[in-house]
Amino acid sequence: MLVILKRDNEEVNEQAAQLIAGAIRKKPSLTLGLATGNTMVGLYQHLVRLHQAGLLDFSEVKTFNLDEYLGLPGSHRQSFQHFMHENFFRHVNVPPPNIHIPDGSIRGHYEVYCASYEQSIRAAGGIDLQLLGIGRNGHIGFNEPTSSLASRTRLKVLSRETLDDNAKFFGPAEGPSCAITMGIGTILEARRVLLLATGASKAAAVAKSIEGPITCAVSASALQLHPDVTFVLDEPAAAQLTQRDYYHRVLQMTALLTPERLS
Ligand code: GLP
Repeated sequence: MLVILKRDNEEVNEQAAQLIAGAIRKKPSLTLGLATGNTMVGLYQHLVRLHQAGLLDFSEVKTFNLDEYLGLPGSHRQSFQHFMHENFFRHVNVPPPNIHIPDGSIRGHYEVYCASYEQSIRAAGGIDLQLLGIGRNGHIGFNEPTSSLASRTRLKVLSRETLDDNAKFFGPAEGPSCAITMGIGTILEARRVLLLATGASKAAAVAKSIEGPITCAVSASALQLHPDVTFVLDEPAAAQLTQRDYYHRVLQMTALLTPERLS
């Protein structure tokens, strides 16, 4: 596990963009797992700028988004499809047939649909690099606390904490109560995982995920089982980690001995 400690949001975005751009330059046909949420907005802006400057080409990249609200058509302003289009896809050159986002407008036959999403990931050769945010309750994707650590893409009922966090987006109407999400088992199959967290509201979840026991009560703690995970954190999100000095030293040695892990 590589823990990269940065000063602020901007530095986190810059570092994450560098890692993603590096992975695409090494493998232009990269299969990239994408995430939504406020944390990702600045990162996508960085990637868009690199593309517009002619420094990053997405023409062979394939993408798979982690999750989508159930019951929202892609045209809904709060759908993740809308988020991805506005913040990323309309500014870059990922070919539309290469873009995969779970369809929140499906009704019924959920298991068949979710199995077909998993099948598309396999057909694309599996995910090379999976980008993740983290919820205040430690969720990744919409794998709410008590999700099976072996779970696959499926329907998931949103927790009260997530509904409360979403209230600001959906106004007085409560918003969707379910989502389609890649499972923790699906995420753990990605070859490399990159988790970004910024802000004090994520500090407890981050500390539990990195230094706490592996438990279904904190979905992101399952990442301890993955051989190639990088956390990029700003100071407020890292505040409750007890081993920050060690992570700094590991980072210095990584820059010296295996700098390719940082670019
Ligand atoms: C949603 C998404 C997660 C994301 C989380 C955090 O719950 N399903 O994938 O990590 O929000 O969002 P934010 O970055 O806005 O805090």
